[in-house]
Amino acid sequence: MISQVETLYLIASFLFILGLRGLTAAHTARRGLILAELGMVFAIWGTLIHPDITRHLDHIGWFQTYKWILLTFFIGSAIGIAISALIPMTRMPERIALSHAFGGLAAALVGVSEYYREYGHIDHTTMGALGFEVLFGGLTFTGSLMAFGKLSGLIPGRNITWPLQNQSNILMFGGTFVLLVLVTIDPSNQVLFYAMAAMPLLLGILFVAPIGGADMPVVITLLNSYAGLAASATGFALNNNVLIIAGAIDGASGFILSVVMSKAMNRSFRNVLFGAFGKVDEGDAAKVAAGGERVQEASVGDAAMLLSGAGSVIVCPGYGMAVAQAQHVVGELAEILEANGTEVRYAIHPVAGRMPGHMNVLLAEANIPYTSLLELEEINDDFKNTDVALVVGANDVVNPAAKNNPASSIYGMPVLNADLARSCIVLKRSMRPGFAGIENELFFAPNTVLTFGDAKDTLEKVVDALR
Ligand code: TAP
Repeated sequence: MISQVETLYLIASFLFILGLRGLTAAHTARRGLILAELGMVFAIWGTLIHPDITRHLDHIGWFQTYKWILLTFFIGSAIGIAISALIPMTRMPERIALSHAFGGLAAALVGVSEYYREYGHIDHTTMGALGFEVLFGGLTFTGSLMAFGKLSGLIPGRNITWPLQNQSNILMFGGTFVLLVLVTIDPSNQVLFYAMAAMPLLLGILFVAPIGGADMPVVITLLNSYAGLAASATGFALNNNVLIIAGAIDGASGFILSVVMSKAMNRSFRNVLFGAFGKVDEGDAAKVAAGGERVQEASVGDAAMLLSGAGSVIVCPGYGMAVAQAQHVVGELAEILEANGTEVRYAIHPVAGRMPGHMNVLLAEANIPYTSLLELEEINDDFKNTDVALVVGANDVVNPAAKNNPASSIYGMPVLNADLARSCIVLKRSMRPGFAGIENELFFAPNTVLTFGDAKDTLEKVVDALR
């Protein structure tokens, strides 16, 4: 008969799958999250009554049985609540990288402690699962810490390279894998095990160091999938079904997201991981300077005038909108323009901002209807028939070099066709480049004007002028 624990785990797994399904569309995402959270409640409930934990309950009482779990539960919850309250949306990728780091560390530590506790009684299959768990857990831990360091500016965000880097990294990974095979064959060899546990910590650092800041989102989702694999391996080692299922879901969804994001940037996985992308492209900068073009500045009044005369406007939001927290005033501007008979739509690039769905979340916060948010493929052909493309703090995702300049480091990445609109208004603070660190030829185009300043301040003034 199926035990109470297994029933709770089954319900939890079912809720995780339903939760994931809910997260596939914006209008069901909130329900999906609630279902997944409920799933977690069932998983924790099942774990609290698991025979491995309650084995000595009758002899030692509930306090002795649960004291460590309760203590860590309260500490973990306090940290979780503080993080969610204190970290702003703009720093979400760093927060995600940090959570993955701790997830990986937890898996690696569980693996090492299982090895230590069960030493002498570990069979080959369990050893294989434990080794896998420690390998991917360790790799995720230091790799995610590196990603966190790069995104937060604690270590240089640009790619750090050295001679024969890819070859030495691959060789080290192969060596670690050989150690994993050897320790699976001979689980009693402690030297092999601890060497195998230490190597991934170094590998995580070496693998992420050469990857430039612009590729960090792909790296983070890939590490997410490693954390899932580590959790799944933990499930096999501990014979815990909910960990196997949840880890597999996490691993698969992280992997799919990495593929989707690589596609959005038109990059192969190999190129993301081994291409050392993200250098400042000197060639690009020189080309623009040689052309001698000048940017055309527009005052707030000029921008308001252009907008008031437009029959159609496409807003192209980017990372700068998130930094300025300009989403609410973007909504206000749209209301005024629509009341004036202007059609206003939003073009959402899949990697605009710093995390998947970043722009959707911000615009939803400002109550902009989902139906006005259009994906790149849905709206890109409409730019040529649009009066004004309003670029709010976006840069790389509207850079025509991705279409026109084979020498550019972002060549081939699909971009929004803001350059094809009749006029383009760009809101940014300076001529600094975006995340990829390259010049943007859109800013020098004859039909483009730039209004310098914080996007929220500028838009507030535009709204005042229009009123
Ligand atoms: P970026 O290319 O990073 O450009 C953002 C622009 O916003 C900058 O040029 C900046 O110029 C401007 N800005 C910053 N603060 C501003 C403010 N307060 N007011 C007005 N403008 C402001 O952003 P994007 O176009 O959204 O492209 C995203 C980039 O990030 C891509 O390269 C993508 O690959 C990468 N990335 C994406 C993700 C995901 S998953 N979305 C995650 C990590 C990285 P000033 O400094 O001159 O104002």
